[in-house]
Amino acid sequence: MKQSGILYLSAKDVENSGLSMIEIISSVEDILKEKYFKRIEMPPKPGIHPRSDAFIHAMPAFIPRMDIAGIKWIAGYLQNPEKGLPYISGILVLNDPETGLPISVMDASWITAKRTAAITALSAKHLARKDLESIGIVGCGVQARSHLEALSVIFKGIKKVRAYDIVKEKLFLYADYVRSNFNYDVIESTDPKEAICGSDIIITATPILSKPKPIAKFEWVKKGSLVCPIEFDSYWDSNTFSKPDRLFTDDVMQLKYYKKIGRFKAIKRIHGELSEIIMGVKKGRINEAHRITVVNLGLALVDVAVASQIYEKAVKKNLGVLLPY
Ligand SMILES: NC(=O)c1ccc[n+]([C@@H]2O[C@H](COP(=O)([O-])OP(=O)(O)OC[C@H]3O[C@@H](n4cnc5c(N)ncnc54)[C@H](O)[C@@H]3O)[C@@H](O)[C@H]2O)c1
Repeated sequence: MKQSGILYLSAKDVENSGLSMIEIISSVEDILKEKYFKRIEMPPKPGIHPRSDAFIHAMPAFIPRMDIAGIKWIAGYLQNPEKGLPYISGILVLNDPETGLPISVMDASWITAKRTAAITALSAKHLARKDLESIGIVGCGVQARSHLEALSVIFKGIKKVRAYDIVKEKLFLYADYVRSNFNYDVIESTDPKEAICGSDIIITATPILSKPKPIAKFEWVKKGSLVCPIEFDSYWDSNTFSKPDRLFTDDVMQLKYYKKIGRFKAIKRIHGELSEIIMGVKKGRINEAHRITVVNLGLALVDVAVASQIYEKAVKKNLGVLLPY
């Protein structure tokens, strides 16, 4: 569906497109199959760092089977929340693969929140225990909300959320959000250890720091749990990456790239990629007592695939503003 101009979709338009979490998870699963067969183009994301503890990443991807191409240009600025601005912001450009012309420019923050949570939920489907009941959340911002939404789609037995945020007000707001949207008990933890100990899955969604300041200790993680650090290696100690029974990622090549530039130094062995587990080529969880770490760094593929679905829906609903070439 191509138009004679660039369709601009604001954050509200993106949200109003009505793409559901179930649709996003299912699209992520499909796209990961394409990734497994290497029927995609997605170079490791380059980034610039205009301020300390700030990044702007370029994330291009082309998916031949769907014939879609695009790039996400996404920033994370640690100081933004103090200025009343979002930590994560960005835009995504979709291109017509035939001509290269941009067909849409859209806000990328909603997509980033939803697709990151969808990948975690899919990882958890294969790597967490099936009887998962409790979720530990550290960093109660945007991702903490979308992660609960995505996990609730996959796991029907969730009973408890243990949450912690360094900013008390954010913790309380998050607890209210959980109570009003889910039928789960919420524990407002007074320290990160309380949120992590005893949880079946732990999501750490604190800022990505240029110099990691490990706070969480792998020894706090109980047997059988899944650790999901979405803040790269900013929050967890080195044992989290060197001592899990198994360690997986959404993209081996990207993880190796980050190791080369000095991150994730403690990782000794990568047991496989999520796409290999989905295809049944590698086993995810093989022992109920294993402690597993999954390092998902974010896939441009998924951004572009989700954006393309949003674009299709937005055109049908007549959303956005058509900008002239
Ligand atoms: N891996 C991926 O694919 C991916 C994708 C998107 C975002 N991210 C990362 O996820 C993280 C969260 O993003 P977000 O949009 O939810 O940000 P956000 O600003 O909405 O939330 C971050 C929360 O962490 C809290 N926090 C900060 N330092 C803390 C600490 N030391 N202990 C406990 N809480 C602390 C903040 O108060 C805030 O509530 C960021 O690091 C972001 O870069 C990763």
